[in-house]
Amino acid sequence: MDFSLNDDQLQAQKMVRAFVATEVIPTIGEWDRKQEMNPTTLPRMAALGILGVCVPVRYGGQGFDYVTLGLVCEELERGDTTLRVVMSVHMGLNSLSLLQWGTEDQKQRFLVPQATGEKYGAFALTEPGVGSDVVNMTSTARRVGDKYILNGEKMWISLATKAHHFLVVSKTNPDAGHKGMSAFIVTSDMPGVTAGDIHGKLGVRAGSTGWIAMQDVEVPVENRLGEEGEGFKIAMSALDNGRYTVASGATGLIRACLEDSMKYAKERKTGGKPIAEHQLIKQKIGYMQQWYDAARLLYLRAGWLKNQGIRNTRETSVCKWFATDHSVQAALEAVQIHGAYGFSDEYPVERYLRNSKGAVIYEGTSEIHQLMQADYALGNREDRPLRQELPAYDPEFWQSEPAPAAGD
Ligand code: CAA
Repeated sequence: MDFSLNDDQLQAQKMVRAFVATEVIPTIGEWDRKQEMNPTTLPRMAALGILGVCVPVRYGGQGFDYVTLGLVCEELERGDTTLRVVMSVHMGLNSLSLLQWGTEDQKQRFLVPQATGEKYGAFALTEPGVGSDVVNMTSTARRVGDKYILNGEKMWISLATKAHHFLVVSKTNPDAGHKGMSAFIVTSDMPGVTAGDIHGKLGVRAGSTGWIAMQDVEVPVENRLGEEGEGFKIAMSALDNGRYTVASGATGLIRACLEDSMKYAKERKTGGKPIAEHQLIKQKIGYMQQWYDAARLLYLRAGWLKNQGIRNTRETSVCKWFATDHSVQAALEAVQIHGAYGFSDEYPVERYLRNSKGAVIYEGTSEIHQLMQADYALGNREDRPLRQELPAYDPEFWQSEPAPAAGD
């Protein structure tokens, strides 16, 4: 068993850590207060290759492995949750689904521009009346000749007003339960697609969250991802990757709480000594360290399984559940350590607390993950092989340029 990071992983981690320290942390409080996304966030992430970090070079990406994706998400959320959310939807839920399920033509048309950062991707599953119970969605996709006509609304969509490509799941056969759903690549410029932002959120205020409405949107059959009826499985497999980015990001949030609390506890004095010397403060710091270590090991295990091409639905679910639940706990403790200052936006810990809450709701609530873990343990749930698995990390393939076409 090898717990060390290789040179590529360390290099990516160092680059993102420097970006966060110099370009995110100094100004993020201001953007959070304004409740706006910094307009340079997405272009800078694109320019640094972050938006294609875990996509093979031949598809416009940087060719790093799945563990590196986790490390990058940890570093991004050390700065602010909003940057990690970008990775969850653009990379985890959308780009990796194209890599897993897309045809070569779809990869060229949609994955390449997403990996280079020329276009942004998002994921549209949730609806105004349907979250955990995906199977009861009401949006529809009706086949007419070589097109599908999509109608319905999608809600709580990260990057709704920024993304160019949406991975949309809708019902192609409303009577067939989870076998009656299909997945489509819908572009924001298709007639009938409208999107708007949602304001007044508790957290991720410097991020973009919104809704999408589809009215008689004509989607060519070439934009269907996977076979008709595979939409539920595609959505669940996308969540296996999205949840991994949420978990590794939440690990970064625990680290932010720990680092900021340690700094404050060493500076702040009560009774003539730094509060870091009081046992009840040490208890909180000790717990945060324990949560950070456990969350990190859980996501590294999930990343390792992805690298080997081994199905990891259960391991990703348990790490998403653990890391996000404990990021809320860590943020509560961080605010407590900061006392009254923790209750004001003079220190970032109040933002950490507000940001932590979303991740125990999206990409499977903690309750859904708890039920899934119980069902795996009780033998009620097992993973069956898929028609198309997420490709294992093979450095030779991931880092090589495509062979030149005949005649080039
Ligand atoms: N990958 C591929 N296929 C999978 C799968 C996976 N991870 N999980 C299940 N499947 C397959 C099963 O093998 C099964 O296939 P067969 O019919 O061939 O056997 C089929 O899908 C149905 O599976 P289940 O019976 O296990 O499905 P279920 O009804 O028990 O699932 C659930 C229930 C676990 C609650 C699931 O609906 C779920 O995870 N809900 C939460 C949804 C969610 O996370 N939403 C978040 C929205 S995205 C978001 O928040 C992003 C954002 O923008 C912030």
